[in-house]
Amino acid sequence: MKSLSLLFASFWMVAVAVSQTTSDISIIPQPVSLEKKTAHFVLNSQTKIVADAKNADVQRVAGYFTGQVKKATGFTLAQAAPAIKANVISFTLNRTADKIIGKEGYTIDVTAGGVHVAANDPAGLFYAVQTLEQLLPKEIESKSVVKKTSWVIPGVHITDYPRFAWRGLMFDVSRHFFTKQEVKEYIDDMVKYKYNLLHLHLTDDQGWRIEIKSLPKLTEVGAWRVERTGTFGTLTPPADNEPRTYGGFYTQDDIKELIKYAADRFVNIMPEIDIPGHSMAVVAAYPELSCTPGTYHVSAGEKFMQWGNGTFSALVDNTLCPANDKVYEVLDKVFTEVAQLFPFEYIHMGGDECAKNFWEKSDAIKQLMQKEGLKDMHEVQSYFVKKVEKIIESKGKKLMGWDEILEGGLAPNAAVMSWRGSKGGVEAANMQHEVVMSPNNNVYIDLMQGDGAIEPPVYKTVLLKNSYEFEPVPEGVDPKFIKGGQANLWTEQIYNMRHAQYMTWPRAFAVAESVWSPKEKKNWNDFIRRVEDHFGRFDMAEIKYAPSMYDPTFEVNKEGDLLKVALNAQIEGLDIYYSFDNSFPDRFYPKYTQPVLVPKDAVTMRVITYRGKDPIGRMITMPIATLKARADKK
Ligand code: ACM
Repeated sequence: MKSLSLLFASFWMVAVAVSQTTSDISIIPQPVSLEKKTAHFVLNSQTKIVADAKNADVQRVAGYFTGQVKKATGFTLAQAAPAIKANVISFTLNRTADKIIGKEGYTIDVTAGGVHVAANDPAGLFYAVQTLEQLLPKEIESKSVVKKTSWVIPGVHITDYPRFAWRGLMFDVSRHFFTKQEVKEYIDDMVKYKYNLLHLHLTDDQGWRIEIKSLPKLTEVGAWRVERTGTFGTLTPPADNEPRTYGGFYTQDDIKELIKYAADRFVNIMPEIDIPGHSMAVVAAYPELSCTPGTYHVSAGEKFMQWGNGTFSALVDNTLCPANDKVYEVLDKVFTEVAQLFPFEYIHMGGDECAKNFWEKSDAIKQLMQKEGLKDMHEVQSYFVKKVEKIIESKGKKLMGWDEILEGGLAPNAAVMSWRGSKGGVEAANMQHEVVMSPNNNVYIDLMQGDGAIEPPVYKTVLLKNSYEFEPVPEGVDPKFIKGGQANLWTEQIYNMRHAQYMTWPRAFAVAESVWSPKEKKNWNDFIRRVEDHFGRFDMAEIKYAPSMYDPTFEVNKEGDLLKVALNAQIEGLDIYYSFDNSFPDRFYPKYTQPVLVPKDAVTMRVITYRGKDPIGRMITMPIATLKARADKK
């Protein structure tokens, strides 16, 4: 009897393990090819690692894997000789000599006896480790030991490699400062999704964040501002006598440490020094560099730009003066030090949103235009960019800029980062310049990811679906000029790391899939299934993400004297319930099936989403006054 129950118990345990193996696999970004096998591998405390002891890169990658395994399982996986054939995870370099997988690709074979990872290059092994972690149960993401009877890796054969070499995330550390440790955390998270480029937006009106030893005031003055909390662009201007206590910067040693940390994880860091606009922190430190020398302060988020319909001007001059030779001397010093610090081949010089209204009034600019035959302000900016390109190239680097650098004529070798849609990227690629696609409508992850009624307010909305629709190669463009794509996290409205995480994920999952996976492999519904699996992983890792995809967006129109509201679900299979009587709806309230008329005297519309019997969305309270204002604006 006893042995029978033992037999039953062991049968049951195998059945559990097998059922885990056949459950759906959720890898983001989707691999190029994945074949499921019936056998599976069970990782346990006796599992051995086989990795070339003489290759430091391979050892580092293996160590990255065993470190995570130890944290979550408590197992210390020992290394063993290659002759070991059972209960082994092996990392092999150069075995495949496989041209298709290139420098970043890999193969994974999972059998009952072992997991065999192979790549041409250590980067490939590293990306295989990311996939392996995603094949393991979600508890592998835990920061502390999870007691689990079985750590199963489902049987698979995977061949995988990226679609694009440039898979970027931009982190704006200027508007709000993020510490060296926080930048490392951002890198830790991005590599899980096979990003390989961190673009650090190091300078802006709200702060200069990198030590330049030959220009100490850039950080002594430019890195510090008055602290304000609220909505960017509406904050109280700093008074002269208020303490400048908010901010910070990276010393050159910090930068070196970050570059090493990133390189150990196969990430390049591209520095951005945003000029000639967005330069209030520079002119606060060195006012003589503006065309209108005076007294400037580092912006605290007060209104100093006037935005119109496609036009803008500065209320306070936040630009460098292209007619001033001293500007180029200072920039030579800046780029000398920046080029010495960063091994990456590109330096980004910004070039975006430079107001020209102070230049227009400047005698020095008028003289420059006459001397150089420049016919308008775009040509003045182009003159500036071309001079900066020469400086950057003299340091052995290539210049990249936002797509405004096309205006007035593109510098001869400049690469363009296309952010105002893909138009600038198309134009640059047609001129045979290198392009990174970063269209704001798809990949601006600082923007709201749902309706303004529930999301922290910021300029406009980019839904997860918009991010998933990101296609880096526009119709009719020669793909060889498109280096890849990038999502951008601007931080005007991001005050802390938890909110940076909320804004980044899950949209950066979507962008990762657009830049890594084959275009034909993309599938929205399957992506959402995988996103939900990764939410579980983020819960284990205690990383914040936005649940916004569960919430509907509101669309309102006038119907006679009344308002008619359509609720647009972002994903399939959910039920939306609503109220107009100020009470909190649940699944026993009216279910939304078609656009509804707002009762004449209603004050709020409340909405919540369910999946079956379980609430899954957030309770949204939409003031009817807001709906009315939206309808009036149409
Ligand atoms: C930008 O968003 N101003 C590049």
